[in-house]
Amino acid sequence: MDWNTLFFVILPYVALALAIGVTIYRSVYRPFSISSLSSQLLERRQLFWGSISFHWGITIILTGHLVALFIPQSIVLWNAQPLRLYLLELSGIALGLWATAGLAILIWRRVTVGRIRVVSTPMDYVVLALLLVSLITGVITATVYRWGSYWFTGIFTPYIWSILTFRPDAAPLATLPLTIKLHVFNFYLLALAFAFSRLVHIIAWPLGYLLRPWQIVIGLRKARVVSQE
Ligand code: HEM
Repeated sequence: MDWNTLFFVILPYVALALAIGVTIYRSVYRPFSISSLSSQLLERRQLFWGSISFHWGITIILTGHLVALFIPQSIVLWNAQPLRLYLLELSGIALGLWATAGLAILIWRRVTVGRIRVVSTPMDYVVLALLLVSLITGVITATVYRWGSYWFTGIFTPYIWSILTFRPDAAPLATLPLTIKLHVFNFYLLALAFAFSRLVHIIAWPLGYLLRPWQIVIGLRKARVVSQE
């Protein structure tokens, strides 16, 4: 077996199977462990700036990746005019830098704020490092190997569908530059870490709030003793 098959055929199936299997196990047998284990009570100012930038940036970027996967024709048509292609690529790079700046704040916070450090596990650092690699290699790919939004649909859309439909064909990836391979390989490492880390909170959509009955919260305060004199 060659490295290409190991990294881009075997690894994706192992990573996806573990991500799905262990997440289902956790949801059924340890439902309260599906959480991001918020540390907002320990520090909130850096969290605000880091979390907002990182989450908005990465969500929009990954939505773009999904559009290229599910409706590649829309990207090809959009890119038919050079101005629109430049706009898409520049927006992608700007969002990538925004998300990276947010992640840098989150990493700095976790390393320098004593109270956050105490509640951090080695897996928290692993996940932050993997996310950083994803963002940096993504921005390098978008900047150095232009025009990614165009060739994504020609190389990665068929590749990912070949994996999802159990007819794996990773041959087109074999000759790609190392940075792009690392970008994809690193995604599978994140998928491997998914179910064993805080990343699992991604599946926790708080939809229950829409359906559950009203909840009335009543605060209890000590009654003030009023003098009768
Ligand atoms: C955790 C998962 C991932 C993250 C955080 C991520 C992040 C990024 C970022 C920040 C960029 C630069 C901005 C942009 O052009 O959109 C990018 C570009 C890119 N990514 Fe990803 N990515 C992920 C997964 C993947 C996967 C699984 C693939 C392919 C199978 C992929 C292929 C690409 C390509 C081809 C580009 C260049 C797009 C362009 O130049 O417009 N990415 N990614």
